[in-house]
Amino acid sequence: MNIKNKVKALLARMTLPEKVGQMTQLGTFNPTDDLSLIREGRVGSLLGVKGAETVNELQRIAVEQSRLGIPLLIAADVIHGYRSIFPIPLAEACSWNPALVEETAAIAAREASAEGIQWVLSPMVDITRDPRWGRIAEGAGEDPYLGSEMARARVKGIQRNDWNNRPYMMACPKHFAGYGFIEAGRDYNTVDMSIRRLREICFPPFQAAIEAGAGTIMVAFNELNGVPCAGNGWLLKEVLQQQWGFEGVVVSDWDSIGELVEHGYARSREEAARLAIESGVHMDMQSLVYHEHLLDLVRQGIVSELVIDDAVSRILSMKFQLGLFDRPYTDPALASTILLAPDHVQTARHMACESIVLLKNEGNVLPLKQTIRKLAVIGPLANDGDALLGCWSGQGRSSDVVTIVDGIHTAVNAGMEILYAKGCGTAEGTENEKTEAAAIASLCEVAIVVLGETANMSGENNNRTSLDLPSCQMSLLKAIHDTGTPVVLVLVNGRPLSVEWAQLHVPAIVETWQLGIQAGMATADVLFGHYNPSGKLPVTFPRNAGQIPIYYSAKKTGRPQMKHYVDANVEPLYPFGYGLSYTTFEYSNLVLSKPSISPQGSLKVQACIFNAGSMDGEEIVQLYICDEFASITRPVKELKGFWKIMLRAGETQTVEFELTAEHLGFVNNEQQFVVEPGSFRVWVGPNSTDGLEGKFEVDS
Ligand code: BGC
Repeated sequence: MNIKNKVKALLARMTLPEKVGQMTQLGTFNPTDDLSLIREGRVGSLLGVKGAETVNELQRIAVEQSRLGIPLLIAADVIHGYRSIFPIPLAEACSWNPALVEETAAIAAREASAEGIQWVLSPMVDITRDPRWGRIAEGAGEDPYLGSEMARARVKGIQRNDWNNRPYMMACPKHFAGYGFIEAGRDYNTVDMSIRRLREICFPPFQAAIEAGAGTIMVAFNELNGVPCAGNGWLLKEVLQQQWGFEGVVVSDWDSIGELVEHGYARSREEAARLAIESGVHMDMQSLVYHEHLLDLVRQGIVSELVIDDAVSRILSMKFQLGLFDRPYTDPALASTILLAPDHVQTARHMACESIVLLKNEGNVLPLKQTIRKLAVIGPLANDGDALLGCWSGQGRSSDVVTIVDGIHTAVNAGMEILYAKGCGTAEGTENEKTEAAAIASLCEVAIVVLGETANMSGENNNRTSLDLPSCQMSLLKAIHDTGTPVVLVLVNGRPLSVEWAQLHVPAIVETWQLGIQAGMATADVLFGHYNPSGKLPVTFPRNAGQIPIYYSAKKTGRPQMKHYVDANVEPLYPFGYGLSYTTFEYSNLVLSKPSISPQGSLKVQACIFNAGSMDGEEIVQLYICDEFASITRPVKELKGFWKIMLRAGETQTVEFELTAEHLGFVNNEQQFVVEPGSFRVWVGPNSTDGLEGKFEVDS
């Protein structure tokens, strides 16, 4: 029997309470009440239970003690690793390496599966241009093109299902939609934006995730143009189901159906249940609103049972696709061989290396030489495993983490003395600590100063109004700088930081984000030149929070020459796509295959890249376009392609991009995708501000 028929047959045997049960996910587990709910078939999914043995115990109740024996779907937030913690997603996006990102997602899924999980609540594919928002750490930054590549890779990795030759995991792209555009960077806040912009900027990563096969989607907390997403039929039915043909499961966010009341959208929890189910939310995460009210709503004829049947069919279909009916249990012996397996740890180091972005390297302070006799390592984050795990660190443990101090110790020759001082805390410090650190720095040839944010300074609801380093850390940095010892600033953070002072005064800055279990190894690899840094920023770095929103694909405006502030430079601190290498890449010979194309045509764009330095290295070659005149004004630049290439010292490579209608079009005010005739500019370059420029026409 195929899955469709199996679902039909099972559905026909279900009572209404059992159907509503499938639509109910419990996020917190209370053994006294919840075990009996599982036994009665009144729960379809659990979130937050850990370990194969616990999961098996609960699964056994569902499978062996409930009337129909429908297995539970076990969900977990596996955002950047399960036990082998990889770099935070924003850091992974700096790699511009979808194949490697797919690999880390696949490993995370495998590890989670070994602990009985079948549904990971990731990737977060929300585009955001507001680094004040703590959840910027969970996404791929500001750009829909790069964001879509990362979304596709993560879904493919999670649902790769190549382990034991059986399907075992579903992805859940989230949060649909517009969540990254909350006002003031304050979590859960209002989103009000044009539908056209929503389609152009927020939707593409979701569409890419669905094209990649994502089986489920999570709804956002926020309201969108006056209608909360959990009750937004236009978003969930018209766009997601009718226009995109999504056939999977739509799950609410945590209590977001219940919150329809707080939003002032539903008068009661009962009305919230009706609005959510009628809008296309198939599963209720945690609010219990469906559990409490759907039964009566159907019995009173207010909600049609057909709507319930559609939701339940999707959920059952997912359970069949995952093979849960045949294999509901997980071998408890698996975890010990899968979690932190040596190849997972090795991939974590590789990914961490590719996630690092070299922001400044004046006078080639880096890479550090093994001939240094005394090296200072200073700062509150140099030896802090928890901070390096970042937000949403799953089952990660700080004891699994190689800290930066430890990583440096393993990378240096026996003759090099490492002197470590904390210097201050992350939020507070004393004069004594600072003086002691400065004294150590002054004894050394180079001072590595590790500053930034703890894990809980970013992530959900960890928003900031300032992007500066906390004042005690800033004061420590200045004190070390004042010793005259050259400083290498290593940033550990979950969001862009406005480190303008450092850019002006410190010779070298290395952005390491929160790199996970192999943070120290990877940081040392880069500091000592075992890995030539290649990462490029997926998000613009402002000089100060007052510049927000600041992003590369801005509109021209009527007075482009008059963009300025009276109190600050208008340019970003570091542009989107920016990142240095220990070698130098030279771009030449931009060649377009034709001067003009039809609106359905395509065009090849080539450029030569030469490694002019003395070290092998990878370069991320970026392609941008600008539609010069259009019926809807277009951004000054839009990313439309990239390649990551490896060039030996002295080597030249030609890279080729193909531009098609899909890259040249946009969504107009009628919500249609159009390619308009006219002139286009095109750039191939190392970031969003530099590059070779060409021109072509789209004929009418
Ligand atoms: C977050 C989701 C997460 C869910 C379950 C919510 O607060 O917004 O991203 O998946 O909790 O933990």
